[in-house]
Amino acid sequence: MWKNKRVLLGVTGGIAAYKAIHLASQLTKRGAIVDVVFTPAAKQFVTALSFSSITGRGVYEDMFTHINGEIAHIHLSKVDYILMVPATKNEIAKLASGVADNLLLNTIYASKAKIYIAPAMNTTMYTHKTTEDALDTLRSFGYTIIPPVSGILACKEHGIGKLDEPEHILEFIEEHETHLDGIFKGKNVILTGGPTISKMDPVRIFTNQSSGKMANALGVALKKRGANVSYIGYFEPTFGPEKYIHIETTEEMLEAVKEASKQGDIFIMCAAPLDYAFESYSTQKVKKAGDLVIKLKRTPDILKTLKKEVQEMIVIGFAAETENHMENGMKKLTEKEMDYIIVNDVSSKTMGMGSAMNAGTILHRSGDRKEIHPMNKDCMAEEILEFVEAQETCM
Ligand code: C5P
Repeated sequence: MWKNKRVLLGVTGGIAAYKAIHLASQLTKRGAIVDVVFTPAAKQFVTALSFSSITGRGVYEDMFTHINGEIAHIHLSKVDYILMVPATKNEIAKLASGVADNLLLNTIYASKAKIYIAPAMNTTMYTHKTTEDALDTLRSFGYTIIPPVSGILACKEHGIGKLDEPEHILEFIEEHETHLDGIFKGKNVILTGGPTISKMDPVRIFTNQSSGKMANALGVALKKRGANVSYIGYFEPTFGPEKYIHIETTEEMLEAVKEASKQGDIFIMCAAPLDYAFESYSTQKVKKAGDLVIKLKRTPDILKTLKKEVQEMIVIGFAAETENHMENGMKKLTEKEMDYIIVNDVSSKTMGMGSAMNAGTILHRSGDRKEIHPMNKDCMAEEILEFVEAQETCM
């Protein structure tokens, strides 16, 4: 993909800037022609010589100059890709609001290239409303955000905001470019994942073994295909959805889905919401005495309750079964008016809920189906989306 492609690598002033040197090296090895632009703060962290030694080409920072007789930012804008790696909060905010006070920002505004932005910063800064809003604005410009990963950050905290490894960044871009023409591109996807919980008192909860791993894998696969994902769940996912709505109870999940469905195109109900919850909540910790009998009440079925709200969307559900898999799966597909259902056998300890592996059958309402043999959940997510893509394209 990179051979003879012109790439402008925009490096901003963050500690992760050292990774951009390796990125420049990887791009050059893959045949790209790489020019580098520094923001003024970048050189606090890395030197121009490191980049030019690797790329054999220029490193630019001065806005008020000419390159080959052309105004610098006009000359530099004529590339295939601009990668802002790493992207600091400051440069992201400026880019979102139209500020053009350095060479990199001017070049981006003047360019028709595909633009990728890789934010890297402290977790609290990354999850700050101003950062989320700015990233949403950049997405609305058609720029692609390369989500940061979780890990130990320069500030010694553990959390999301770490720049991914250069090889992964390139894989992300390569896969993103490959999948960009599919049915998920630009679609608003509502994705639920993991369990819900019910609180008995301030310390005790009732939940199930769902981990959210399958939904997270679907999130990664959806992002690769250019979807805008709103994730609703109890556990925060790591794939970097456009929006994360934290919920605890099944009722809260229902309300969140209802709200999100106003702007949804595709609804993937991967969560395993509790079917039963404590009938009442004790504000004081229940003292232990003899055996305890607790009454559970039924919770609403989200898919059944919201049939009307989601009827214009492509609806994909799951069924965790321990017996009569296909029969039960088909019944749920019809009853809950889904377009697709993925039937999982959860009787095995190494497969399904909570584990890294999964297997099952994906069924379309037409009766078409595909067996998914045991594989890790990332691969299964790919299989599911490929099946949906194939079905929707031939309809
Ligand atoms: O629990 P069950 O096997 O019926 O789940 C089938 C589908 O219904 C799944 O997609 C699940 O997420 C969804 N479901 C729901 N509301 C519930 C329980 C399950 O929408 N309360």
